[in-house]
Amino acid sequence: MEKLLSRIDRNRIPSHVAVIMDGNGRWARKKNMERIEGHRAGSLSIERLMDDALDLKIKCVSFYAFSTENWSRPAAEVNGLWNLMIEFFDKKLPIMIEKGAKVHHSGTMKKLPKNVRTRIEHAVESTKKNNKIILNFCLNYGSQQEITDSVNKWIETRKENEKITIAKIERNLYTNGLPPVDLMIRTSGEYRLSNFLLWQIAYAELIFVDVLWPDFGKKDLYNAVIEYQKRDRRYGGI
Ligand code: FPP
Repeated sequence: MEKLLSRIDRNRIPSHVAVIMDGNGRWARKKNMERIEGHRAGSLSIERLMDDALDLKIKCVSFYAFSTENWSRPAAEVNGLWNLMIEFFDKKLPIMIEKGAKVHHSGTMKKLPKNVRTRIEHAVESTKKNNKIILNFCLNYGSQQEITDSVNKWIETRKENEKITIAKIERNLYTNGLPPVDLMIRTSGEYRLSNFLLWQIAYAELIFVDVLWPDFGKKDLYNAVIEYQKRDRRYGGI
């Protein structure tokens, strides 16, 4: 691991890493376990990544934990996911506070179960002054909905003949105030973006890895950062 770490240039660490945490179900199936056990193992990967990102001084990590499309899963799985999230915030909030993490939520609060909403609101409120790392939990999140909501918010205060601009759309996104996404990682060998941070990844580097999310660890993060640092980011220039 030290060898991998020594290949990372500490001056070019991505500020914002976004993860599509895919493969929990397949991980469980391989082990003859219930799907929810895959999600439980996946929440341990979230904890590991929080620590590893802090060590690397990554400023922000976005976790795609529940999409607006995930409601179509069987109710037992959806409820199991909410329970895992409640357990996660109840157990881990003191640790996030101690480590100086700031919790952010991206998504529509309205449809979230009340007991999940209160956990998130409490976590956001009690970490708002922290600045070591931002942990952006994307729950009930969909990128197309986010952009649509943003434009609708702007319309409410629009003056006659005023035109929409990039800055105005950005100001009303759920991610307002977070650094631009530098690196997006999707696990489990799927090559899709699944409606995640479509606006924010305009100039991000995309990395797809075969490892299933519950198996994603320090080594995989280091490898992704090494690969990111090899890429030549030109932002449309030459
Ligand atoms: C995708 O894997 C994963 C999800 C839809 C849920 C992600 C949730 C967690 C990692 C844990 C709970 C979250 C928190 C914040 C504690 P999949 O189920 O689509 O996997 P599959 O494609 O192999 O079936």
